[in-house]
Amino acid sequence: MYPAKRTTYFNQSMIREMARLAIEHDAINMSQGFPDFNPPEVIVNAAVEAIRGAANQYTVTWGYPPLRQVLAEQYTDQLGWTVDPDAHICIVCGVTEGITTTLLALLNPGDELIILEPAHENFRPSALLADAVARPVVLETPGYRIDPDRLDAAVTPRTRALLLNTPHNPTGRIFDRAELQAVIEFVNRHNLILITDEIYDRILYDGQEHISPGSLDGLLERTVTIGGLGKSFAVTGWRLGYVIAREPLSAAIRVVHDYSTICAPTPLQAAAAVALSQPTDYYTRLREEYAERREVMMEVLDAAGFRATRPEGAYYTLADYTRIDAPQAKWRSDRFARWLTTDVGVAVVAGINFYTKDRDKYGDGIVRFAFPKRIETLQEVAKRLATIGQQAPPDLARRRSLASSNPAPRR
Ligand SMILES: Cc1ncc(COP(=O)(O)O)c(C=O)c1O
Repeated sequence: MYPAKRTTYFNQSMIREMARLAIEHDAINMSQGFPDFNPPEVIVNAAVEAIRGAANQYTVTWGYPPLRQVLAEQYTDQLGWTVDPDAHICIVCGVTEGITTTLLALLNPGDELIILEPAHENFRPSALLADAVARPVVLETPGYRIDPDRLDAAVTPRTRALLLNTPHNPTGRIFDRAELQAVIEFVNRHNLILITDEIYDRILYDGQEHISPGSLDGLLERTVTIGGLGKSFAVTGWRLGYVIAREPLSAAIRVVHDYSTICAPTPLQAAAAVALSQPTDYYTRLREEYAERREVMMEVLDAAGFRATRPEGAYYTLADYTRIDAPQAKWRSDRFARWLTTDVGVAVVAGINFYTKDRDKYGDGIVRFAFPKRIETLQEVAKRLATIGQQAPPDLARRRSLASSNPAPRR
């Protein structure tokens, strides 16, 4: 017996593996991007009421009508065209399903999808599940800016789409107008579909505003906009996202969603309609709280000897550990990340996990910290990181076990 070939092209997610290791070693989980605080009371109550009430059966496959209605109103404003709740919106089980469903609906086997690296670990496997090919284009330090020449160089006759995540995980970049202009020209020049992942659209710093690429002239017709509730409302386990696109793309997306999951959980969709109807105060407070977390995170990392990027949006920072005064600062990032988890008690993700192209060149020497955490948690992280340099030197047997337990991914 053997599994399908497509399953051999990727390994288990390293982010989830680090989260598992965190539990095993009682480490603080700064590896996987989820909050350690509760969602707002009002939406928890809405979910409970929905379960006690009538919202417990399948919804229409493309989503609970009141939720689609709220989204249609908001995205008509945000995208600048009339979003029809009965034609353009599909509620899905998280952005992850949204992306996989979109790729299954829009790509043919062998088609190529351009992704920007460092990239969220799920993007490439999503493409592979659609029997498509992921073509990485590197964003490089300093700045992690989109380089139009690199985009052009990645195009082949099979290129069909570009996947753009803004605000960006893991760099914290919000791609600016000049970069978005380059994207407009690029996708039009090569007649590509633009698929956006805007899951962090509400988590922004320093007065930044989110621009949905699908609202820009030249992108309206060819953009699939994907968003979700998990991050903005601290409900990553609810598995709620949405895909917005024009016809004929939306019809294909809806039909794939129907046959993969039928519908997202109904009572949680009912609560999502309440969540998205929160007054603007909610989002102002969300930004203020994240701004405070970002400040504390930056200070903690600075004090521990890391040099970390200051995110413009989302809740991650890539931190360079190579100047820390400890022997482990010379280690490869996967080994360093494991050691930080098992010996220091702070779980992070190795930089090399965000790259497939020249991963040692671009992803070594850095680790990603996710900081959607209570301030007390970040203070405990500070205490633990302060012990770096005081660790007993590792013995050789342990080194061997570390090296063998993290094999390079199969290509
Ligand atoms: C950029 C990005 N997209 C998608 C996801 C997953 O979204 P969801 O939990 O809604 O599937 C994450 C989670 O960390 C992410 O960082």
